Amino acid sequence: MTGGGVSVRFAVGRLLLVGAAVCLVVASCSFSPTATAHAASKAVREQGAAVFHEKGCEHCHGVDGIGTDKGPDLSGVGRRLHKPEIAKQIHDGGKEMPAFGDALTNDEIQQLVEYLAAKKKKVKRHATAPVVASSKR
Ligand code: HEC
Repeated sequence: MTGGGVSVRFAVGRLLLVGAAVCLVVASCSFSPTATAHAASKAVREQGAAVFHEKGCEHCHGVDGIGTDKGPDLSGVGRRLHKPEIAKQIHDGGKEMPAFGDALTNDEIQQLVEYLAAKKKKVKRHATAPVVASSKR
């Protein structure tokens, strides 16, 4: 760092200090808060996908939640259920599904909820459409 008057160097120094502090707090040097928030929630969803894989959800719900004969397709679950309902299903289980409240931390449940709530593409089931369509619209 050369040149610049004393006061300018002083100001730059302070800026750098503040910048460094911000970087420490946010653990990211991106100066765009929206991009950071977006990246954070994407990271959470990815952690949720990992938990889904590691904790045996796939055993019944299939890879990426596409469903098996033991558990329903979750590919459109974000449209069907709100986050608290998804969290409750995971925490308390259901008729067939075991409760995971003891097996998972709150963070893991939260990550799963973010992952599943973002699943909004109902996989198209071939041509049973007429009945489904008329009851839906
Ligand atoms: C032993 C099989 C089994 C496992 C393991 C399992 N589930 Fe389920 N899950 C089911 C069944 C069956 C249902 C249907 C409702 C019921 O009977 O509880 C269900 C329902 C759900 C629903 C609600 C779907 C809807 O449309 O209402 C969510 C969300 C869900 N499971 C998430 C998970 C997650 C996340 C995990 C892993 C932590 C998991 N499940 C592990 C069998 C399972």
